[in-house]
Amino acid sequence: MPNYPVSKISTPDEQINILQITDLHLSTPIDTDSNNTCDAGDCQRSFETVLQQALNENIRCDLIIVTGDLVSKVKPATYDHIFAVLQATQTPFACIAGNHDVTDEDGKDLPFFQRELIARPADSRLLSRHVIESDHWQLLLLDSSIMGAVAGEITTADIEWLCKRLAACDKPALIALHHHIIPVDSDWIDIHMAQNADIFWDRMVPFEHLQVIISGHIHQEQVRYRQGVTVYSTPSTCYQFKPYSHDFAYDEEALPGYRWLQLANNGKVASWVERLDT
Ligand SMILES: [Fe+2]
Ligand SMILES: [Fe+2]
Repeated sequence: MPNYPVSKISTPDEQINILQITDLHLSTPIDTDSNNTCDAGDCQRSFETVLQQALNENIRCDLIIVTGDLVSKVKPATYDHIFAVLQATQTPFACIAGNHDVTDEDGKDLPFFQRELIARPADSRLLSRHVIESDHWQLLLLDSSIMGAVAGEITTADIEWLCKRLAACDKPALIALHHHIIPVDSDWIDIHMAQNADIFWDRMVPFEHLQVIISGHIHQEQVRYRQGVTVYSTPSTCYQFKPYSHDFAYDEEALPGYRWLQLANNGKVASWVERLDT
């Protein structure tokens, strides 16, 4: 695939505009001309409509970051389709894995705790410990997925890699990963956050140039702050979870969404979520 993965970004002005999309949850690709009304079709259509709406906005998009759960069932053909759609935008992009990219669930009709979780290797196009550099920023992409599990992890090796990288380069830094690293007051999903988060935060203390962290997984918009870092979670391009619910619940009212991040050359960040037009 030409130009993938992107590792250098340059822009003609004072900032980089990043489009974050997450939790696409596509199943087997369907014929887009067919009138398929199944869930798989909904997520595929929703992903493509979100992407189209974002790229039609009056904002130059310099980079698309896809923060995991690209699929709901691991099949190379589904990734082929997603990568073809992203490639067709002619915008640099980068994708990392979520739990659903390395785990299939057997017994989807059963309550969650009765399902069998089956480990799957990540598609080779999903990135791990990947750096995208610009003149003024460094973007550090991590794979927080664990094969056969819903929860994630920032491994000791990931933390060492981050520390080494942040010590070697003092440009403002953004970290992107799938799993959330600050609890969001929702018991069922907080059980499945990134393990090792406390160690991660302890080790990040010396790095004041770490400015922003983006993640997915929780299918909702959240903004948190810790140690001077702004931590953003972003809605799914398909279905949403109810914020602050201690038991699993969909948020039927919330529309699919996406996030813009504008990283200014002086290290400042502006970010907001947009929802699909109805
Ligand atoms: Fe997800
Ligand atoms: Fe997830």
